[in-house]
Amino acid sequence: MVNEAVYKELIAKYRGVFGREPEVVAYAPGRIEVLGNHTDYNDGFVLSAAINCGTFFAAARNDGNSCRLFAGDLMKEAVFDTEGICRSTSDTWQNYVKGTLAGLADAGAVKCGFDGMFLGNIPLGSGLSSSAALEMSAGMALARLYGIEVDLLTLARIGQTAEHTYAGCKCGLLDQISSLAGREGCLVKTDFRSLEYELVTLGNDACFLMCNTHAKHALTDGAYNKLRAACEHAAEHFAGVLRHPVKALRDVSMSEWVLYRGGLDALEADRAAHPIGENERVLRGAGMLVSGDLEGFGSLMFDSHESSRRLFGNSCEELDVVVDAAKKIPGVMGARLSGGGFGGSVVVLAHPRDAEIASAALAGAYAARFGKACGVSVITPAAGAYVL
Ligand code: GLA
Repeated sequence: MVNEAVYKELIAKYRGVFGREPEVVAYAPGRIEVLGNHTDYNDGFVLSAAINCGTFFAAARNDGNSCRLFAGDLMKEAVFDTEGICRSTSDTWQNYVKGTLAGLADAGAVKCGFDGMFLGNIPLGSGLSSSAALEMSAGMALARLYGIEVDLLTLARIGQTAEHTYAGCKCGLLDQISSLAGREGCLVKTDFRSLEYELVTLGNDACFLMCNTHAKHALTDGAYNKLRAACEHAAEHFAGVLRHPVKALRDVSMSEWVLYRGGLDALEADRAAHPIGENERVLRGAGMLVSGDLEGFGSLMFDSHESSRRLFGNSCEELDVVVDAAKKIPGVMGARLSGGGFGGSVVVLAHPRDAEIASAALAGAYAARFGKACGVSVITPAAGAYVL
């Protein structure tokens, strides 16, 4: 079993606190975003992968209407009723579970309370979607516990709604779909308009290094929502000037952007260019992966980061230092920020034989510039969420 030590620790802690066995345990992984930044809510394309770190959620029904929820790492408890669930402003970790439970209650009957606990090994705030892993593991476990039938897409949407209404981030569906749809050794290529996805094999000549800068990664402070609003406003502009229907930036090509950007102010035009360019890169990149052109794919990752930095404004110095260092390391094929941005992690594409040397070089470059360590780990594309 993947992350068996975490599972065993959770079960031991669960027994210790509740004095019994859980009825159900579910697991959901975090994700890396490999190409396609801020394209999901623009109806576009993303290449992502579920990763080999994740969260286990254990639960059993209880006799009352009260839910007792433990964060297994901090051993902190939250207690709330199944009726009238509301957002907590202090211990915000519980909101992801509350939001998920509220979504499940709309899909079926939550007949009683539960005793629950979760534990995972995704570094928090690293841009690896620990929150989606919590939502998806809680969602799968609680749906099974209450006998509520939900398909994967509904579950993903429940997690997304929890982010919107309980965490305040108007995210797309990338994190939840990646956590559910991942497959060992594969990237997931998702079309966020049709919500169909396909698996693209990575092969044995490539692996990912995640370089966690520990820079502040807070998507809930409004920066993410502002970028989303700028994209949506730009899409309205293009809908007014292009002859074909434009529902989202997915419907605008780079050549149309060049011709019709005029009616937007300079900043908004730049913001719009990022997801438009990213969509085109994902489609080209997926083809390169299929034909084994890893160098070509890696250079698209570098282009993606440059577009984030220059056009979208969602990079930061820590991320740029890592990406610039990656460009100079032999064996490294590409690097870019992964996820919302403003901190978090850089995803680096390297040949597995170069992973160790590249990791040391990345850590060294970061320490030389900032005088502190960044965490570098090898990430392998892994299977999506499941009930144990
Ligand atoms: C965060 C969001 C996703 C997606 C990425 C950027 O991870 O939760 O929906 O928008 O940022 O691509």
